[in-house]
Amino acid sequence: MAGLVDGLDVASLGEMKVALDVGMAPDRISFAGPGKRPPELAAAIAAGITLNLESFNETERVARLSQEQGQPARVAVRVNPDFELKTAGMKMGGGPKPFGVDAEQVPALLRRIGELDLAFQGFHIFSGSQNLRAAAIVEAQDRTFELALRLAADAPGPVRSLNIGGGFGIPYFPGDAPLDLEPIAANLERWLPVVKDRLPQARVVLELGRYLVGEAGVYVAEVVDRKISRGQVFLITNGGLHHHLAASGNFGQVIRKNYPVAVGNRMNRAERETVTVVGPLCTPLDILAERMELPKADVGDLIVVFQSGAYGLSASPTGFLSHPPCAEVLV
Ligand SMILES: Cc1ncc(COP(=O)(O)O)c(C=O)c1O
Repeated sequence: MAGLVDGLDVASLGEMKVALDVGMAPDRISFAGPGKRPPELAAAIAAGITLNLESFNETERVARLSQEQGQPARVAVRVNPDFELKTAGMKMGGGPKPFGVDAEQVPALLRRIGELDLAFQGFHIFSGSQNLRAAAIVEAQDRTFELALRLAADAPGPVRSLNIGGGFGIPYFPGDAPLDLEPIAANLERWLPVVKDRLPQARVVLELGRYLVGEAGVYVAEVVDRKISRGQVFLITNGGLHHHLAASGNFGQVIRKNYPVAVGNRMNRAERETVTVVGPLCTPLDILAERMELPKADVGDLIVVFQSGAYGLSASPTGFLSHPPCAEVLV
């Protein structure tokens, strides 16, 4: 992705190393997340990447580490906005949150940053993710720009980076329609000249995750058994929630719904049946598809789960019951 995007946001030292290894310029890498530890902060300062500050404590810690290293850290303020991204799958902003600094406390933090030897870059305002409603994203972006312009009045230096978050969703479930980008593009077209006028040095950043990679990935597991229990057909595979927690319905879903699933080597088979596809783990949570109509499958066939390019293996409890991990292959 490094050649296709203008920057990378990372959430750990491990991700930061990957971002640097793939050749992304340090000034195009930002590091967000509550509870960044001193070794992570020190490595980020040394590498010259931008730290998204998430608290007053963290700000003081970063200033101390900067002093020790003799170079001011590049910092942005992660703001917990005073609004929510409506209809988002997950909300990272609005109300009490562990992420960022409440908007109403940000002016005081900006004054403190001005007293410290830190290189202020701008704001990071990420309100939520997995939204398929363009109107909700447009509304959140309106409020994000308004908030950023308001906060910029107290900034200790020019705003160079204005990260307005993302939240662009992808369709997972029956009835989900792909996000309509037109109204979002039109809204950004309206806002960008305003930002250019009010914050002439600011680069506006969209922070997209699954929208860029989620649809590019498929998860494949092999059927190792097929059986009937009290009239219900079960396909048991060698993969499950330890590889793909999200598809099992245990990664934040309130009501479990089936991801799009197919039998990869039987796409054109006419004979179909309703089956429940499970993994090998001794827990009823280990489900890949529940009562789904699929082409008839047997031992050795391949179950394919689409929309698996984000929140797959790295978001799964791979150590649970010590089953083998799955391979991740770039095709
Ligand atoms: C700060 C931040 N940025 C980006 C993302 C990526 O979200 P998505 O994959 O839904 O685009 C998340 C998701 O939790 C996040 O917390």
